[in-house]
Amino acid sequence: MKRKVGIIIGSLAKKSLNRRLAGALQKVAPEELEFVEIPIRDLPLYSYDYDADFPQVACDFKKAIADVDAVIFVTPEYNRSIPGALKNAIDWASRPYGQNAFARKPSTVIGTSPGAIGTAVAQQHLRSILGFCNSPQMNSPEAYIQYRDGLIDDEGDITVDGTKKFLSNYMAEFRDFINRVLTVLPRQSK
Ligand code: FNR
Repeated sequence: MKRKVGIIIGSLAKKSLNRRLAGALQKVAPEELEFVEIPIRDLPLYSYDYDADFPQVACDFKKAIADVDAVIFVTPEYNRSIPGALKNAIDWASRPYGQNAFARKPSTVIGTSPGAIGTAVAQQHLRSILGFCNSPQMNSPEAYIQYRDGLIDDEGDITVDGTKKFLSNYMAEFRDFINRVLTVLPRQSK
């Protein structure tokens, strides 16, 4: 069965390594998964002053999450946590109180950095946030990808066979996880 996956990229950088990774993941994913990017760039900084009257950009963001079966977060690590822009986006999605777009929405977390631990600390922070947001997360496999020059070429292909196989399996596991979660938590249920 086809499943629609929203991609949230934690970086706003034009030449983002994580955007590159997000592209490569789509190429190695099983054919049952369809992807759509859910952009975070244009969201203003969240305040609960907006709760009574959400701006259109935030309504569109929440609707985009509602419209997918699952979300994959592809994020860098900034100062041993997630980028502020990503936290801001999650705060928008989680509000107003009682209308949290991530509740019961299956998710997974992945990221790349040139550093040796490949975004591990940021991912743990993100997992904690998503736990509070009541998003069922794929716990295993985890994927901490150390980015070395040329790992993903300009066509978006992974050039290291072992990494390609690993990430292909990661995406197949995510498909299976989505299917398991949606069996017990159908998408429209609240
Ligand atoms: C970084 N970088 C970084 N890397 C890391 O592994 N751990 C970290 O804590 C940080 N901290 C950090 C803070 C800030 C403000 C910046 C700009 C960068 C380096 C980071 O991994 C590198 O810039 C990647 O290219 C970021 O991913 P994107 O934005 O290219 O997808």
